Amino acid sequence: MNITVIGTGYVGLTAGTCFAEMGNKVTCVDIDVDKIKNLKQGIIPIFEPGLEGLVTKNLHKTLFFSSNLKEFIAKTEIIFIAVGTPTKDDNEVELQYFYQAAKDIGQVITKETIIVNKSTVPIGTADKVKEIIQKELDARKIQVKFHVVSNPEFLKEGAAISDFMKPDRVVIGADSEIAFQKMEQLYSPFFRTHDRFIRMDIRSAEMTKYAANAMLATKISFINEIANICEKVGADANKVRIGIGSDSRIGYNFIYPGAGYGGSCFPKDVKALHRIAESHGYTAKLIASVEAVNDAQKLIIFDKIIHRFGADLSGKTFAMWGLSFKPGTDDVREAPSIYVIKALLEKGAKINVYDPKAIETAKQFYLKELKNITYFDAKYQVLDNADALILMTEWKEFRSPDFEEIKLKLNSPIIFDGRNQYNVFHLQEKGFEYYQIGK
Ligand code: UDX
Repeated sequence: MNITVIGTGYVGLTAGTCFAEMGNKVTCVDIDVDKIKNLKQGIIPIFEPGLEGLVTKNLHKTLFFSSNLKEFIAKTEIIFIAVGTPTKDDNEVELQYFYQAAKDIGQVITKETIIVNKSTVPIGTADKVKEIIQKELDARKIQVKFHVVSNPEFLKEGAAISDFMKPDRVVIGADSEIAFQKMEQLYSPFFRTHDRFIRMDIRSAEMTKYAANAMLATKISFINEIANICEKVGADANKVRIGIGSDSRIGYNFIYPGAGYGGSCFPKDVKALHRIAESHGYTAKLIASVEAVNDAQKLIIFDKIIHRFGADLSGKTFAMWGLSFKPGTDDVREAPSIYVIKALLEKGAKINVYDPKAIETAKQFYLKELKNITYFDAKYQVLDNADALILMTEWKEFRSPDFEEIKLKLNSPIIFDGRNQYNVFHLQEKGFEYYQIGK
């Protein structure tokens, strides 16, 4: 098939590359000219395992990049809109890029086309897209048949390629048989044993994405709240996690207590769902609490540090392992590490940080202009003269470190672990003061 993908962020670039890998002819379009220039040479803007290899493999064969939508549109059968939909200050979803893409499409399509909403957008956006495209066609005084489809994406950063290549399900929201058929034809190669298509109406598909992310975020805030209660009552949240996870109705997945969820999806989508409900006259109390619990959880490590060292941290230095919101990515959007760093700096502390992948993104965008942070490119170097080690991201290289070396380098053997990675008895035996979540 001949496909155009508008937007080369995580979702657009992954989707376009995976469709190209299956033999489709794919053009990825972006208004960011520099990004496109780099992509044309196989330079990709994000770290995502396996993505660079697949882009290079298919580049100029089945995968093309352009900043000009018109150039390729004549032959395109399916256009994916995968542009960013960030949250505005008032928690409303920013749709200007999305609607601009719809407008651009209306200005260039010449034959029957399927337009697929891949970005996470508020319920009812597909109807608006239809209106926008139709308005442009009317202005051009031509009649072109088009179908608008909602096809939410459920991929996880750090596992984007494997999630896309082997989806649990493909949700298709459409209102015509031809659109369903075309979408199923496109995705069929991704299912080896049996299809996992879920057909539904467009609004339900749009809502499915928010509901999935809100459900997962709820599981995390729930276990974090349980962990906080465990600390008060003298229970161990990790034991409780296993105790409840063994019930198949609950399950073991996504109930790891930690320093809070971050990333580009959960925080944004939970806020947006709350706002969407509100705009329809409904107060989503549970969703609001999920967000409030997480806001507090992002500072739980900071709270523990203050409890241990007192409110004035001037003269103290903390070593931090991990900046990204989870392992396997250089993404630090809404990462708890950023919140903890800012709070510690405010109390006068100095920070030494190391992350295997995220230093550059953090420096460029999120910690820019902040003083008293020193960046290192080796994990043991950050420990020199630090008063404690803080673990924020469970990268594999932090899972089984040399504790003797840590002890030797730190001023005092103290570890604050935001991801419950170590064995408490083991560390106490080695003479560490060890603080974790939920115990
Ligand atoms: C998420 C959804 O999983 C994905 O389906 C959707 O398309 C986009 O949002 P992602 O943001 O890549 O994906 O990250 P995910 O692996 O889901 O983790 C999100 C956050 O939750 C991380 O900060 C992680 O550390 C945290 N988390 C996850 C926990 O704190 N505890 C858990 O048990 C699981």
